Amino acid sequence: MRRTIRYAAVILGILGLTVAGVAAWVLLNGLPTYPVEPNATRVDVTPARVSRGRDLVTMMCASCHLDSATRTLSGKRMVDAPPEFGVIYAPNITRHAERGIGRWSDGDVLRLLRTGIRPDGRYVPPYMPKLPRAADEDLAAIVAYLRSDDPLVAPTETAPPTSTPGFLTKALARLVWSPLPYPEALLTAPDDSAPLARGRYLANDLLDCYGCHSADFKTVDVLHPERSAGFYQGGNRLRDADGQDVVSANLTPDAQTGIGDWSEDAFVRALTRGQRPDGTTTRYPMLPYAALSDADARAIHAYLRTLAPVTAPRPAVTTVPPLATSTGQQVYRDRGCASCHGDRGNGVYDIRHALAKYTSDESLAAFIRNPGAAVPRITMPVFDGVVADSDMSALVTYLRSLRVAAPPGGTRPAPQE
Ligand code: HEC
Ligand code: HEC
Ligand code: HEC
Repeated sequence: MRRTIRYAAVILGILGLTVAGVAAWVLLNGLPTYPVEPNATRVDVTPARVSRGRDLVTMMCASCHLDSATRTLSGKRMVDAPPEFGVIYAPNITRHAERGIGRWSDGDVLRLLRTGIRPDGRYVPPYMPKLPRAADEDLAAIVAYLRSDDPLVAPTETAPPTSTPGFLTKALARLVWSPLPYPEALLTAPDDSAPLARGRYLANDLLDCYGCHSADFKTVDVLHPERSAGFYQGGNRLRDADGQDVVSANLTPDAQTGIGDWSEDAFVRALTRGQRPDGTTTRYPMLPYAALSDADARAIHAYLRTLAPVTAPRPAVTTVPPLATSTGQQVYRDRGCASCHGDRGNGVYDIRHALAKYTSDESLAAFIRNPGAAVPRITMPVFDGVVADSDMSALVTYLRSLRVAAPPGGTRPAPQE
């Protein structure tokens, strides 16, 4: 008996030492590097590709890489990354030779987007989504755009600091995550003549709808989306720019808890303009896909209708009680402005610099009612009919106060870490 206990103690001791050893190894070694396969692919920069690439990059990359201060993809802090992942910055991906990716070859960019491996072998963890199944032509459009003379990718000196990944990121990168395989054959996308197949491609292979709209990022299967737990049933708990929880929606055709009783037009409106049938707007990180063509939005709807309806109510989230000090701030919070812009205007998109552009209150109100009219492809909901006329002047007054009052860097501290 006593001997058994002694053995058990020895085994536990060995286990403890092993765990401590692994932990020390993870801490000392940081993120892994991988061998770099040569990739000689060259992408021709054509006007058609640049234009398609601009649409794709605004929908797929700008939310993380767009810096509102420089007005280019010069990078910024990922304020909504879970704190246990560390302090994460999306880097400068403009054409700048040292600060950006100006010296990367086309193949280098393609390798990173497919697999997560940088040209020097360093690994980019899944907090940046990869595109293992996107069509080669869509990736070529993205690369062509990054090479173009569009103002958004103009060489920019400003760059954020490098990320400091936390222990969890390092451990997962050593023990769980790994680079994705580079496709062996050329991948093509179904076109408009096959709407169902095209909708499935857009939702699962290109725009990553299923990742956020399944149960949890931890159980998402990036190589076989359909095998993800709770596929399109929602419930994934994400964070907005104000540190509040936002739970993703059930997109299966269930009438009560999904979008079964939404018309096709209602769906297209929610997806591209951010307005739901109940008159509310979608919040960060659900950005309106304003650059999506009408046919593509309808194709996604057609595909989602083919899923099995699943009853999965969205769990309620506890939000920090709002302590608004003015009507304008209350409107700003109630209408979800803080979910993207943070409580003080410097969230995922910093609006403090832009406010001066709107010299009259009427022009600022007009922008809020229909942002796409002033800024094409902007991923901001359309607030026409959502913010009542009587609330608009209070909201505008609150916005004007942000310009002077905002402290440098950092929004309201995130709730419990
Ligand atoms: C959810 C946020 C997010 C999205 C969306 C995103 N990225 Fe990133 N990206 C990051 C982060 C964070 C890193 C750096 C991670 C790190 O520090 O290791 C990164 C790294 C990169 C790098 C490596 C740059 C370097 O200097 O190492 C490139 C290139 C890149 N992203 C391009 C893109 C493109 C193109 C898209 C759209 C197709 C995109 N990213 C979408 C967050 C994102
Ligand atoms: C970065 C994560 C993310 C991505 C990517 C994403 N969504 Fe969402 N989506 C959400 C969240 C979170 C909500 C809930 C927002 C809210 O409560 O205001 C949502 C809400 C919605 C809604 C409103 C449904 C409702 O009942 O409120 C629709 C429709 C929708 N998403 C469709 C899509 C489609 C289609 C795609 C791909 C083209 C997509 N989403 C991509 C996170 C995401
Ligand atoms: C789903 C995210 C989202 C929500 C919600 C949102 N916005 Fe925006 N907003 C954006 C984006 C994206 C931009 C463009 C940022 C950029 O280009 O740097 C923007 C830009 C702005 C600008 C600057 C315009 C310019 O010319 O650059 C103002 C002002 C603004 N938003 C006000 C508001 C107000 C007020 C609300 C609430 C009624 C709101 N936003 C809600 C995403 C959002």
